[in-house]
Amino acid sequence: MNPDQLLTQDYHIPVLMEEVLAYMEPSEGKYIIDGTLGGGGHTEAMLKAGATVLGIDQDDQALSYAAERLVGFGDRFSSQKGNFSQMPELVQSLGYGCEGKVDGILVDIGVSSWQLDEAERGFSFGKDGPLDMRMDQSDGQTAADLINGAAEEELRTIFWEYGEEKSGRKIAARIVERRQEKEFVTTLDLADFISTFIPRGGKSHPATRVFQALRIAVNDELGVLRALLESAAGLLKPGGRLLVITFHSLEDRMVKQFFKHASQTHIDRKEWPEPRPNPDYEYKLITRKAVAASKEEIQTNKRSRSAKLRVVEKNLN
Ligand SMILES: C[S@@+](CC[C@H](N)C(=O)[O-])C[C@H]1O[C@@H](n2cnc3c(N)ncnc32)[C@H](O)[C@@H]1O
Repeated sequence: MNPDQLLTQDYHIPVLMEEVLAYMEPSEGKYIIDGTLGGGGHTEAMLKAGATVLGIDQDDQALSYAAERLVGFGDRFSSQKGNFSQMPELVQSLGYGCEGKVDGILVDIGVSSWQLDEAERGFSFGKDGPLDMRMDQSDGQTAADLINGAAEEELRTIFWEYGEEKSGRKIAARIVERRQEKEFVTTLDLADFISTFIPRGGKSHPATRVFQALRIAVNDELGVLRALLESAAGLLKPGGRLLVITFHSLEDRMVKQFFKHASQTHIDRKEWPEPRPNPDYEYKLITRKAVAASKEEIQTNKRSRSAKLRVVEKNLN
């Protein structure tokens, strides 16, 4: 389906909207970068509050959908194709010269509901489509390339590290055996194959963790998140805020540890006689605990169940 024809609520319902607005405080004169534009829901709300927003997404369909939705905001909205891991370079290529001048950066990690639901994108084990899973379909290896080409050990590591799949060893071995006879081409082929030897765990499909792991590997989701965390402070002005929404524990753990470290004035080690100044100290921690969706939001949008928001503020000096 052409995403331009979708109603906004069918494309993607933004999570933690009130919370994002409360922590970001968008208003006239503020310059904000939304690194995961998606359907443009968060961006639209920030534009309505008067801010100027640059939206970045690596998915062409998201960009064209959001551009159409937000056209009414004129030059307060602009968009750029790219990966948020290269935010400083992207911003520089646009000639904004806004290093150290940005009021806020938001990333709402992962895939949009539209991407998940669209069989052709290959993210879903419930819908038949090509085993693709690339958010940027113009670049990089697909899930099929990985499944049919990676060494057994690499598959095992991916299933274990990114999917925390306890049967990863067995699944990797069986996949390698099967692909020698016939390569995997479609999502259902892989999902059905896994269900022939892995029992259903509770409500979830036996291929759930493998699909999650493949998606993370194909899009290098942890690598790009780390790159963003390491570069965002260079763009933010003193007092500017970084808001990160994650949907699974691997990512949340990375954000939590990064924010904790970057907001400590000193670090201490057993072998040191006294604590030393932290060379990475650049933020004030705004959310001590991750902010989760309210019961009401979870009732209306199931996807918000696992959303976690964490916020830091760039130091004033
Ligand atoms: C959860 S959706 C964002 C939804 C958006 N906040 C809204 O209100 O509609 C995630 C979007 O971010 C994009 N995305 C994910 N990782 C990205 C990355 N590393 N760089 C650029 N875009 C990314 C996806 O293509 C997808 O469109």
